[in-house]
Amino acid sequence: MTSRFDGKVVLVTGAAGGIGAATVRALLAEGAVAVASDLRPPAADLGIADARYIAADVGDRASVDRLVAATEAIAGGIDALVHTAAILGASGPFEQLSAADWSRYLDINLTGTFNACQSVARSMIRTGTRGRLVTVGSVNAFAAEPEAAPYVASKGGIRLLTKAMAVDLARHGIAANMIAPGPIHVPRNAELFAQPELVALFAQSVPFGSAGSPDSVARAALFLADPALDFVTGAELAVDGGALAQILALPKTG
Ligand SMILES: NC(=O)c1ccc[n+]([C@@H]2O[C@H](COP(=O)([O-])OP(=O)(O)OC[C@H]3O[C@@H](n4cnc5c(N)ncnc54)[C@H](O)[C@@H]3O)[C@@H](O)[C@H]2O)c1
Repeated sequence: MTSRFDGKVVLVTGAAGGIGAATVRALLAEGAVAVASDLRPPAADLGIADARYIAADVGDRASVDRLVAATEAIAGGIDALVHTAAILGASGPFEQLSAADWSRYLDINLTGTFNACQSVARSMIRTGTRGRLVTVGSVNAFAAEPEAAPYVASKGGIRLLTKAMAVDLARHGIAANMIAPGPIHVPRNAELFAQPELVALFAQSVPFGSAGSPDSVARAALFLADPALDFVTGAELAVDGGALAQILALPKTG
């Protein structure tokens, strides 16, 4: 049986992380030539050993350009990028925030997205590939959460950067779209998300009633990376169990 990704070269950054690894697994299952990149090699139990691993730091442009050149060399072009690499988490109250923390989140999350997307877009233009760029924002690209100003600002920036890329790259036939995950269970947050307070919070603030799975985000990433998806660009796809659709949840009765 043929699949929509048979032989397609798809680069996934942040591939050692929960959502990145799930995306690589989904791509491999659909016959893609998946290239998995991260700062560190993916753990063996992530099930992505069949993907080619190339180390890169998305905050370092020279490192990203080497990654893209090596990926392009595999089959002469890159069909899609799914850029999940980021640093996450709270950084403290706004008034106590250090300039160093501010810059770190912006450098890795926002400039990292610029680095990866521009380098891949240049490759796509060079090779005449009408490719797909999939960025990963967050529900925090739309609304803030406490004590996370640099993360929230970086994700808001990715949202508009994605639209700007969509506008500028359309003439090359390249689409750029963003996924906006809500709370997603990954190995990094397993302990935190198991706490009863968080389970109760998600039950109330996520209409579907719980945090989501990385496989759900991966399915959305493949939808946007699909070469057959045309005329969709500059869009945002929330994978959040309805969290962004709701403003306030009334306590459940009965
Ligand atoms: N898990 C969630 O609840 C959630 C919610 C909203 C958005 N997101 C977004 O989804 C994406 C993936 O998140 P995740 O939960 O899988 O996180 P994760 O921490 O499991 O994975 C992130 C990966 O990015 C890599 N990374 C960090 N800095 C890097 C750098 N400079 N260069 C290359 N790689 C680097 C890390 O090594 C890690 O493997 C992120 O963009 C995150 O903001 C996640």
